[in-house]
Amino acid sequence: MTDTTVAIREARATDAAAMARVHVQSWRSTYPGMIPNPFLVALSEPAAAQRWAAIAEARAPGQGAFVAVDVAGALAPPGTVVGIASFGTRRVAVEGHTGEFHALYLLDDAKGYGIGRRLMAAMADRFLAAGIRSAAVWCLRDNPSRWFYERLGGLRVAERPIRFAGSDLVEIAYGWRDLTPLARLSAGPEVR
Ligand SMILES: CC(C)(COP(=O)(O)OP(=O)(O)OC[C@H]1O[C@@H](n2cnc3c(N)ncnc32)[C@H](O)[C@@H]1OP(=O)(O)O)[C@@H](O)C(=O)NCCC(=O)NCCS
Repeated sequence: MTDTTVAIREARATDAAAMARVHVQSWRSTYPGMIPNPFLVALSEPAAAQRWAAIAEARAPGQGAFVAVDVAGALAPPGTVVGIASFGTRRVAVEGHTGEFHALYLLDDAKGYGIGRRLMAAMADRFLAAGIRSAAVWCLRDNPSRWFYERLGGLRVAERPIRFAGSDLVEIAYGWRDLTPLARLSAGPEVR
């Protein structure tokens, strides 16, 4: 698969159902053993779709969402949304970091092809265009995907206990004080 078979573009409200599918599948694949099963079973694609439609519609400088679309059908039927990402203002303060990467999820079959890196670069690029030079992401400490953030240069900058779905969990924040190198990881022109 080449970089160009998967296009990264801004999400539209009409992508919401496809984004919800990726969201729910990725949560059910990623979080067993970390988040209680009843919560994962109860995840609803229609409810998630409503939230993703609102996020896509609320696009503004320094906030928004991207989709990764398998244009050529290398990983899934042509046109399938295989990855989603969202970013915006800080939900939980991390000192020295202005923006927050809110979500990043791929279908299992789409992992390992550089799509996550391209989505992170696209978000970093949008932050910089809005004058936001730093950002952080919160990730469950037990989630092995956190090594991805370390690979992309994120530094472990904070840790906090959280209560989620009746479980006591620990989150770690990875931060980029200067988003410029992350934005430069972007490969190829964005297809809109
Ligand atoms: C995390 C995630 C988005 C990464 O996307 P991806 O497209 O598979 O990652 P990439 O192919 O872009 O990888 C970029 C680099 O990170 C490395 N990497 C990716 N996932 C990794 C992991 N779990 N552990 C260690 N390294 C990892 C890759 O090997 C690659 O390194 P390279 O530059 O030496 O080639 C994806 O695995 C995913 O959707 N995970 C489940 C959802 C999740 O946990 N999201 C984060 C919530 S906070």
